[in-house]
Amino acid sequence: MSHLPEHLQTRFSDLIGIRYPIVQGGLAHLSFAELAAAVSLAGGLGQIGCACFTTAGELQADIQKLKRLTDKPFGVNFPIGRNASEAFLDVALAEQTPVISITGGNPEPLLRHIQRSGVAVRTMVLVAGVRAARKAEALGADAVIAVGFEGGGHLGRDDIGTMVLVPRIVESVSIPVLASGGLADGRGLMAALALGADGIELGTRFVAVRESNAHPHYQQALVEAKETDTLVIERAIGRPARVLKNSVAEHILQLEAEMEQQNLAPDERLRRLLPFIMGTVNTQAALEGKMDEGFVWAGQVVGLINDVPTAQELVERIVREAYEITQRLQHIW
Ligand SMILES: Cc1cc2nc3c(=O)[nH]c(=O)nc-3n(C[C@H](O)[C@H](O)[C@H](O)COP(=O)(O)O)c2cc1C
Repeated sequence: MSHLPEHLQTRFSDLIGIRYPIVQGGLAHLSFAELAAAVSLAGGLGQIGCACFTTAGELQADIQKLKRLTDKPFGVNFPIGRNASEAFLDVALAEQTPVISITGGNPEPLLRHIQRSGVAVRTMVLVAGVRAARKAEALGADAVIAVGFEGGGHLGRDDIGTMVLVPRIVESVSIPVLASGGLADGRGLMAALALGADGIELGTRFVAVRESNAHPHYQQALVEAKETDTLVIERAIGRPARVLKNSVAEHILQLEAEMEQQNLAPDERLRRLLPFIMGTVNTQAALEGKMDEGFVWAGQVVGLINDVPTAQELVERIVREAYEITQRLQHIW
């Protein structure tokens, strides 16, 4: 087996105190303490997702569980509009969470709340454009995560792919940038570093690891899917999101096309779409495995997912592959 380096040192791995700059993205309904702890124990940064819980008390219990599983740094992900309330934030701060990531809206109120608390916590803001990255830096974020159009789940509105977005953001801010969207392996990690990023964040790839809460049917669907098997839904309501192609996703797209034709008002669009896009439709497939009765979030990177390893196997494989690439590239000159 190829060499497993002890560290991959970047500004981000130094900032957080981790061995490898590989972050597991927040995964609604799927990223609990077991997954986050496994990623952190393997040398990356695992994150519990606030979108997994309905009460702040549940989040607190899961953070405490994670802390029993590992003493390594970990993160808690706050998707704005989905439990990213101050009550949830206060729990994360009280539990001395080392890293907090914020996404899906204006990060200012949460960043200000964290800064006022005086708790020493590193903050990361997910962005899909240069303006948002500059704003996050100006607000005092410690790092930004640049999520390209290939990514799974909710996306930016400008449809910029990772390959262009990452260097644009790297040249626009001076804080560390993580590349995200379309990354799954050591090739993606080395490409991200070449683009000037200080690390990577993976979403869809961490759905298909043993410790994730995803139903085995969901994981199998990711293994079988090709890069052409995703669709972007919810564009008609201004919040595009990438899902795995199936009859439910295609039905949603059809409804959206009809709404566009009828030129419906935004509120009416949301009202009509809601029964098809609400959380329970997602969990029917993602947690219960009824793959034809709901939709699941997934990125184009499904084309690169061929197995369901443990989180440790995945992190180590990414690092070994990245190391092999640097060895190979030494000989190109
Ligand atoms: C199943 C799934 C659930 C997600 N849930 C969240 C979430 O709750 N919060 C968040 O910030 N991002 C969420 N995302 C986005 C990921 O954290 C990550 O930014 C994105 O998946 C990166 O693109 P990739 O899928 O190509 O790796 C989700 C993505 C997936 C695939």
